[in-house]
Order: sequence, then C-alpha cells, then structure tokens
Amino acid sequence: MKNFEQKTFNLGELKGISAKNIEEHLKLYAGYVKHTNLILEKINSLDASDAGNAYVISELQRRFAFEFGGMRNHEYYFSSLENGSTILTTGGTLETAIVKDFGSFDIWLTKFKTMAMSRGIGWACLSYDKKTGQLLNHWVDEQHIGHLVSTSPIICLDMWEHAYVYDYPTSEKKKYIEAFFDNINWGTIEENLKKVIS
Ligand SMILES: [Fe+2]
Repeated sequence: MKNFEQKTFNLGELKGISAKNIEEHLKLYAGYVKHTNLILEKINSLDASDAGNAYVISELQRRFAFEFGGMRNHEYYFSSLENGSTILTTGGTLETAIVKDFGSFDIWLTKFKTMAMSRGIGWACLSYDKKTGQLLNHWVDEQHIGHLVSTSPIICLDMWEHAYVYDYPTSEKKKYIEAFFDNINWGTIEENLKKVIS
C-alpha cells in the first residue's frame, strides 16, 4: 500500500494567526500523516484469518478515519492560507454557486461563521455535492464524524482549540474565525470548486 506524504505549505506572515501557532499546528498535521501511515502498516501486518486479531483490526480500522480525516482536513486548511490572501472574484464560479445555493455571499458567510462558533472541537466545512450540484455547509466533529458522503470539501476551517490557542483565549475564538477569513486565498478556494465541477 502507498504511503501518504506530508505536504509543505507556502505560508508567509499571516494577519492575526501567529507564526508560533502555525509552527505548532504544522507539527500536529505531521502527526496525522505519520499515524495514518502507521495504522495502515499495523493493519497490514496483522493476520485477519486469526480470530484473535479481529478486535484489534476493527478498532484500528475505526481509528483510521480519525487519522486520515485529520491529515486531509489540515491539508485543505493550510492550503487555503497559502500564498497570501486574495479576493473572491465577483461573478466567478464560486461566488455564483454560493449566491445560487445560499441567496447571497453575506448570507452564506454569516451562516458559516455561526456554524464555526459551535461549541466543542471540530471543523466548519463547505463541501460540494456533485450529485445535486450544490454547496453544503456542515460541521465535522473531531476529524471524521460529519463529513458528507461523496461530497468534496471546498473550505475546511479548523475549530480545534490548538488552531488558535497561542493567539486567543477560547472565549475569543470569534477573532480567530475573522483572522482566518482575513487570510484566506479565495483563488485557492475557487480552484477547489472548479476541480470538482470539471
Ligand atoms: Fe488542527
């Protein structure tokens, strides 16, 4: 089985998200890549014909979704902050899709930010459902519970406390959400959608 590779991200100086927080956060991302590979190696090393391994294999398989989700969620997150912030193209593919599905960009953004303020750890996501051709906001608990089957992520905003703990107290996580949108590269986000649609 193919190993998953740890990606690097071109993150310059961000507004409202410190280099220290990013540095620590990237270490956590590296851990998810490492453990995604380790779990697969462990499962492959176990003999499934031995009934004594059944419980271990099932629990490792259950854990696999957590590690894999942690790896991919972070790749969407960090890549959306790469190469500096860019503005959303008016009338472009993404804005047109958001207006169609949510009424206006501002209505969507307010709903997305409200979702991001959910209590507890997880991810605020915007994903595209190719079957119906629409964008959907959804919350993901931990790293894996709440991803919508067969949709493709367009935005993944990390709302685990580790994503902002060096910069904001938990009572001020709203400022971190604003900082994320201050730094977002809308060009990258639009490309995420275009790749799925094509
Ligand atoms: Fe994270």
